[in-house]
Amino acid sequence: MAKDRKYVYKIDELPFTPLVEEENIVTQFLLTDNVQISFIQNPPGATFPLHTHDCEQILIMLEGTEEHIIDGQEIHMEAGDVCVHPGGVVHGGKTLTGFKGIDIFCPPRTGPGGHVERMEKYGTMPNEKGEYPKNTVETKVATWFKGVVESMRKM
Ligand SMILES: [Fe+2]
Repeated sequence: MAKDRKYVYKIDELPFTPLVEEENIVTQFLLTDNVQISFIQNPPGATFPLHTHDCEQILIMLEGTEEHIIDGQEIHMEAGDVCVHPGGVVHGGKTLTGFKGIDIFCPPRTGPGGHVERMEKYGTMPNEKGEYPKNTVETKVATWFKGVVESMRKM
């Protein structure tokens, strides 16, 4: 690895990628060869449409709540809950309070409409040194993750 390879990131400096434009759901991706991390925030009242993908997904709820739907089950999720999504299982949800969380995708969610394609569309892919572009996407979720990051720094 080169000495100028980037290894450490500040979450609040990662660029925004819109996930569900009409619901103002955005995220900040961190992408490696085999894993994709999504620091996601859904504003109050947002619905994440039901969908499925081949890759596995683990959602860690950090703040807020969501009425999560997975495989036909509706489950109230709140901070401290973790949901495992095997590949190919239909899932989505609606949040009344808004929520912040971390999604882990393994392998990265590729293919048409997938998260890697979204990163390409919005110009948020890292370069060969692992550097991300500065944020260029306008978002109505201006406080994105700052509260959580501030809390982490106080620990
Ligand atoms: Fe998903």
